[in-house]
Amino acid sequence: DRTIGVAVLGMGNVGAEVVRIIADNADDLRSRVGAPVELRGVAVRDLSKPRKVAQELLTDDPDALVARDDVDIVVELMGGIDPARGLIRTALEHGKSVVTANKALLAEYTGELATAAADAKVDLYFEAAVAGAIPVVRPLMQSLAGDTVERVAGIVNGTTNFILSAMDETGADYADTLAEAGRLGYAEADPTADVEGYDAAAKAAILASIAFHTRVTAADVHREGITSVSAADLVAAKKFDCTVKLLSICERVHDADGRQRISARVYPALIPLTHPLATVNGAFNAVVVEAENAGRLMFYGQGAGGAPTASAVLGDMVMAARNKVHGGRGPLESTYASLPIAPVDDV
Ligand code: NDP
Ligand code: HSE
Repeated sequence: DRTIGVAVLGMGNVGAEVVRIIADNADDLRSRVGAPVELRGVAVRDLSKPRKVAQELLTDDPDALVARDDVDIVVELMGGIDPARGLIRTALEHGKSVVTANKALLAEYTGELATAAADAKVDLYFEAAVAGAIPVVRPLMQSLAGDTVERVAGIVNGTTNFILSAMDETGADYADTLAEAGRLGYAEADPTADVEGYDAAAKAAILASIAFHTRVTAADVHREGITSVSAADLVAAKKFDCTVKLLSICERVHDADGRQRISARVYPALIPLTHPLATVNGAFNAVVVEAENAGRLMFYGQGAGGAPTASAVLGDMVMAARNKVHGGRGPLESTYASLPIAPVDDV
């Protein structure tokens, strides 16, 4: 009988939770997949750190781990572009399906990686890369595949929402709250990515690419972070019954001559307290999708943190494992449009 072998690359905030759930839920995973799921190894940088996993599963040689014959699925949770990009490519080229939460990588290289996955006829899944636990990638790629999405907008960075909410609610200090977001496992290894809007821009690029079936990279996204938002700005906003949120907005722009372009932008925005996004606080995220036939859909939940993100990773892992056991692939990325990017001043 078949056993599905899993390699996890990275055992930090998210990886540690993924490893825990694979061990704790072994029986359920076996039933849901239709075969036992076994951890073959966990790659880390520092082998001497104490970890909640059998020492013999740890390795500091991820290249060897991803190429092992008894590994069917590689779960990449180390972050960064290199060596993650090469490891994922190697895994795909060796016929392993890949699950990743690495939005920084996907925002640049989804095209390359999706092609490698298609060539190898394996899955490349990345639900956890956008908005933590919230299912939004799969709904866009699968449930809305027959509709025309016009707009995807919302709050997609938990760290900055945690900081802005705390500053707004209690007048908390920016630096203290950022440090707390790091302790709680919300912030990126380099939190500049959060506060300067790079993380939200990467997520906007991923959302725009899958929503509009085109290729958008982080460089296409107009980006402003929250470093220039002061406590005084939040006090002033309140006087006008508003608050400040870091919004990520991706939309199809219809020009007067019938041409379509894509606009993707991330910036701190003043929103009325009556707006649904004004009630999204802490590390929660919310994404509003507007589609021609479905109308308006709203997705809400925990946008960052180890366990919530691990939930999305495990969902992808189960789907990839089922496909390994029963055959099939998907949902597949379908990039057929080549829509130009509208400069922010045109929107
Ligand atoms: P961490 O920084 O907490 O963990 C990274 C892990 O990867 C560590 O265990 C580290 O090893 C290991 N690692 C890093 N580089 C290497 C390398 N070259 N070789 C071997 N191991 C390596 O990151 P997170 O868990 O927070 O995030 C992981 C990924 O998930 C990132 O892509 C992030 O953007 C994404 N993500 C994170 C979310 C969150 O809320 N934290 C939410 C959604 C996505 P060591 O422990 O030895 O240092
Ligand atoms: N640093 C990210 C955030 C993690 O705060 O949203 C989730 O992607």
